[in-house]
Amino acid sequence: MIKPRRIGHATFETPDPQKMIDYYTQVIGFVLAEREKDRAFLCSQIGLLAIQINKGDTERCTTLSFEVAPDSDFGELARELEKDGIKSELSNDSVPGIGQVLTFKDNKGTTIALFKEWSYLGKHLLHLGVGALKLGHVAWVVNDPGKTAAFYEKVLGFKVSDWIDDWFVFMRCNTDHHTVNFIRGNNIKMHHMAFELKDFIHLQNSCDLFGQRNIPIIWGPLRHGPGHNIATYHRNPDDQVIELFCELDQMVDEELGYFEPRPWHRDFPQRPKTWVGRSTNFWGPPPLPDFHRGRD
Ligand SMILES: [Fe+2]
Repeated sequence: MIKPRRIGHATFETPDPQKMIDYYTQVIGFVLAEREKDRAFLCSQIGLLAIQINKGDTERCTTLSFEVAPDSDFGELARELEKDGIKSELSNDSVPGIGQVLTFKDNKGTTIALFKEWSYLGKHLLHLGVGALKLGHVAWVVNDPGKTAAFYEKVLGFKVSDWIDDWFVFMRCNTDHHTVNFIRGNNIKMHHMAFELKDFIHLQNSCDLFGQRNIPIIWGPLRHGPGHNIATYHRNPDDQVIELFCELDQMVDEELGYFEPRPWHRDFPQRPKTWVGRSTNFWGPPPLPDFHRGRD
């Protein structure tokens, strides 16, 4: 079975690449690693590729990349996908720092690009803005979260970390509580994308940066229930909801089956479960209406 070890980068189309490059470099604090006529590649301060920007007609997330084990045999993985009726393609997309990729579509039309060879795009790079550490997770609105979760379990080997009732599912592929999550809605689109920060002080500094730049915080700071991450949300210039977070729950030992104990847990130990009720947050304010805008 395909078993992603971590998320690599997210690829977006946008009509105005320069506007998004400015946002990712000056607000999120990524570094422009490479610029082509219609493509740009942004990495974190430690040189991990995080975002690819392609010039396109509309603002949308087209592709997520995932790293698989270094001894993975792409031919074998392609044959496994074929058994599930999924066509895949081996290609070299000349993405900086990444070797061959095996690409296919997930059940909602997002391209999944698997890679096993990669290199840092620099080390200890000078950055502006927040200086997010890594791409953490990408959440999608889908018609049937159960169906999408089943696809990610069967085809990609993800595990369910938590559900909220039957409308929001959080899935992990490594120790992080969630790397993808799926929320029920009418229009299939990205719901939000999240970048990890070091700690709460780093998150506080990011709030001050938002204040200086007049970027409204549309939800938070708050501590979530599922995942227990402290988070804030804002909108980027393409109107996509972006989360910054720290202190996400960690499943350090899959055999033990519980998340690393933390003082803010209410279950002892904290195991994957279904959360019930509308407000699952541990503390913090409810979202502003702007958070929900455009979901349906
Ligand atoms: Fe999130």
